[in-house]
Amino acid sequence: MGLNKSNSLYFQEKLRELRKEHLYRELRTIEDISHSRKGTSAPDVKNFSSNDYLGLSKNRFLVRRLRNLHTSKISQCSSRLISGNTKSLEKLEKALSKHRKATSSLLFPTGFMANLGVLGCIPDNETIIFSDELNHASIIDGCKLSPSKIQPYPHNDLIELEKSIKKYSYKRKIIVTEGIFSMDGDMADLKEIARISTENNCLLLVDDSHGDFIIGNNNLKDYGGTPSYFGVNRGVDIHISSLSKGLGCFGGYVSCSKLVREYLVNKSRPFIFTSALPDYLAEIALMALQLSKEGILQTNLYKNIEYFHTIAKEQNIKTRKIEKSPIIPLLIGSEKKALEVSKKLLKQHFFVQAIRYPTVRKNEARLRISLNSDHNQDHIYELLIYIAKFLKN
Ligand SMILES: Cc1ncc(COP(=O)(O)O)c(C=O)c1O
Repeated sequence: MGLNKSNSLYFQEKLRELRKEHLYRELRTIEDISHSRKGTSAPDVKNFSSNDYLGLSKNRFLVRRLRNLHTSKISQCSSRLISGNTKSLEKLEKALSKHRKATSSLLFPTGFMANLGVLGCIPDNETIIFSDELNHASIIDGCKLSPSKIQPYPHNDLIELEKSIKKYSYKRKIIVTEGIFSMDGDMADLKEIARISTENNCLLLVDDSHGDFIIGNNNLKDYGGTPSYFGVNRGVDIHISSLSKGLGCFGGYVSCSKLVREYLVNKSRPFIFTSALPDYLAEIALMALQLSKEGILQTNLYKNIEYFHTIAKEQNIKTRKIEKSPIIPLLIGSEKKALEVSKKLLKQHFFVQAIRYPTVRKNEARLRISLNSDHNQDHIYELLIYIAKFLKN
């Protein structure tokens, strides 16, 4: 059955508006992007838009282990509280707690759901949430699920944050920030935020989806993310993260105290009313976690980041260098121009996604380059030469 005429017109009009503003999105398959070049002499498309920062999603050892997993089930087909809980899920939670230096952890099907799951049930109507204005959509949507007052603060402006916290008298105060920001690649100064949180009796939530497994305390081979980097693990009350980025797997998790975990198990709707993460994904994430601890992949990644910035400087490409951050935004401004540059790069076999509103603010469109440990320096060089050329034209 088709849509009736007025419903059809409604959707057509909305889509027309998006096209007009260069904000229209369409799905492409990875095979479309790489043009399925098998059997041709054309070069493969080099992907500079993946969050697989350590290349673990394609790690040969892990893929082999995945094939050899003697799993008897594709999915538990049930929520954790019914019949979906397994030893592997609990084993992974234990390992993630150690990894984040927390006493317990709780898996969610995705990082997006972890944010909805935490922010949707912890803040109540006597709570105020201070949220960095550039926080990810899942944090924003999580905040919207709560009955609390939401008070955004200017990006990484901690003086404003502290002023704002002191100004409002609410029974409970929550600060929520990303660790490494997903679209800007910069870091929240967690040392200072943890101080503000402690001194003002707040609850500090950090979504570290992009710093987790990537940065930390390298001398200790601790890749526990932004809190480890700043040495403030204890100052963060609730860690939220994704397994689908640095770890190259799939899923989301929260690390916190036992009490908070107990509360989430009882109150978090995106945890209670959905199917459990399939068991084999937990098994493979456990192996990936062990591999990530060796530190070899991070060392390769850091070398690529350093090399990228050196060549970008030589080519007069303006980038903001954030030490060890694999996300490098090249601000273009116009949505149309960002799309054009991205298309031209694809013609040269480089995939760099143009990021536009509502992911970022209007007229702040950008190319978001994400580096990984598998990138080859010749490719990074070639990419930057093309970018320099296309930005000029
Ligand atoms: C900061 C941040 N939080 C959460 C998510 C969602 O994670 P997932 O892809 O596991 O749902 C993303 C995804 O891009 C993200 O960038």
